[in-house]
Amino acid sequence: MEPTLELQIEKFSLKGYGLVRLQRIAPLPPLEVEVAHTLPGDRVQVEMRKKVRGTRKGRLLEVLEASPARVEPACKHARVCGGCCWQQMSYEAQLREKEERVRKTFGPAVAVSPIVPAESIFRYRNKMEFSFSENRGGMRYLGLMIAQAEPYVFNVEECHLCSTWFSDVLNRVRTWWEGSGLKAYDPPRDEGTLRYLTLREAFRTGQKMAVLNVSGNPTFAPSREQLDGFVAAVRSVLPPEEPISLFLRIHQTKKGRPTHFYEMHLGGPDHIVEELHLQGGKLSFKISPSSFFQPNTAQAEKLYNLALETIRSLQPSVVYDLYCGTGTLGMAASRFARQVVGIEISPEALLDAEQNLKGNGLQNCTFHQGDVGQVLTRLLAQPSFQRPDVVIVDPPRAGLDPLALRHLQTLSPKAILYISCNPLTQAENIRELTQAGYQLLSLQPLDQFPHTYHIENIALLARKR
Ligand SMILES: C[S@@+](CC[C@H](N)C(=O)[O-])C[C@H]1O[C@@H](n2cnc3c(N)ncnc32)[C@H](O)[C@@H]1O
Repeated sequence: MEPTLELQIEKFSLKGYGLVRLQRIAPLPPLEVEVAHTLPGDRVQVEMRKKVRGTRKGRLLEVLEASPARVEPACKHARVCGGCCWQQMSYEAQLREKEERVRKTFGPAVAVSPIVPAESIFRYRNKMEFSFSENRGGMRYLGLMIAQAEPYVFNVEECHLCSTWFSDVLNRVRTWWEGSGLKAYDPPRDEGTLRYLTLREAFRTGQKMAVLNVSGNPTFAPSREQLDGFVAAVRSVLPPEEPISLFLRIHQTKKGRPTHFYEMHLGGPDHIVEELHLQGGKLSFKISPSSFFQPNTAQAEKLYNLALETIRSLQPSVVYDLYCGTGTLGMAASRFARQVVGIEISPEALLDAEQNLKGNGLQNCTFHQGDVGQVLTRLLAQPSFQRPDVVIVDPPRAGLDPLALRHLQTLSPKAILYISCNPLTQAENIRELTQAGYQLLSLQPLDQFPHTYHIENIALLARKR
């Protein structure tokens, strides 16, 4: 039996969980206790759990006194789920906390504009990934990670962040799994088949996609019959006349080598189409199973419109769109520039980008596939190289790597629009850019993911000379 304690939650951890510092007898340093789904101002009863990297985890047993920001969550899994950390906090308080995080990260030298709130705080996600997991006793779970207990998974029966058909599919696929004879993939042993299930729904067109992600170990390959069962389970949720794009995605992993993905089309259309309603008109985008697309379409439109307003005001000739995904922002910006050059590592996303160009009738965009740093090394060495006057960067959470950052300085555009889903790495990169002659002019946070601690932030930098 683990000890229980009464705690007064003081602040948030980085991951948005409640945090307390317990003083201990000298010379012991204070002990930090992190409790999922609690808020500063809550007084709670907690069961103490194991210590991970200097922080003790506590499991919330009861809220004894509620913080003024506390509200009733919509989801029955809110006390367990690792997906939402803030469903029990009012949306106003979530926005205040996110804005404050950006302010603290960048310091007082630059003003932070008020955060752009989400239009809908539920049913906003166009993509979810649910994990298959099995315990030693053979109990099966298909859902999301348990908060503070990753990689353990619980069975998701409802999720308020996505359309209701997502949970209908989950529940049917779980039933199919029971009778399929397939095992969940066990990474340390490289045994078993089922890794995760990706569901997508284009927000503007309603087009749907389901992707079953499996191990590439041939010993555990699913049979045709098993896959037919999966297809039937997904299809059973939708009216017979409604198409759904169905894929098998195979993860080929070998120790010390990069993972390769292979896709097998199982039925329905081989992609979905999403539309973005942007400044200057509507654009359509083809999305394949492996392509990145902003997970909240309504907020992506707001994000892009803000970026486009700035780009238009700069009247650029050549725009670079680094980490361009399926080319969304670059294509939208091409209306305000003579030429746009996009760089993206994912070959699938790049193929989509090429087709999206044709589909939207755009002639002034060029895309290059590869790592941003390496592609820029190649482009910079070409005699015909065209220096951009504006560069958009929208890297993954890790931010810009040293080579990309160095090349960005060599490109020396008059303005850099740095979009990021991780203000911490964004601030680090921007510190380096300011030392290299750029001035940070503005910061505009935007909420793409209500009920989570994630923040999207647009920074505008101008070259000083
Ligand atoms: C945050 S997404 C932005 C995508 C796009 N700007 C958009 O709004 O849809 C980051 C993109 O960077 C790509 N990426 C990740 N590492 C990369 C690298 N080293 N070089 C080029 N692209 C990379 C990912 O595949 C992904 O499409």
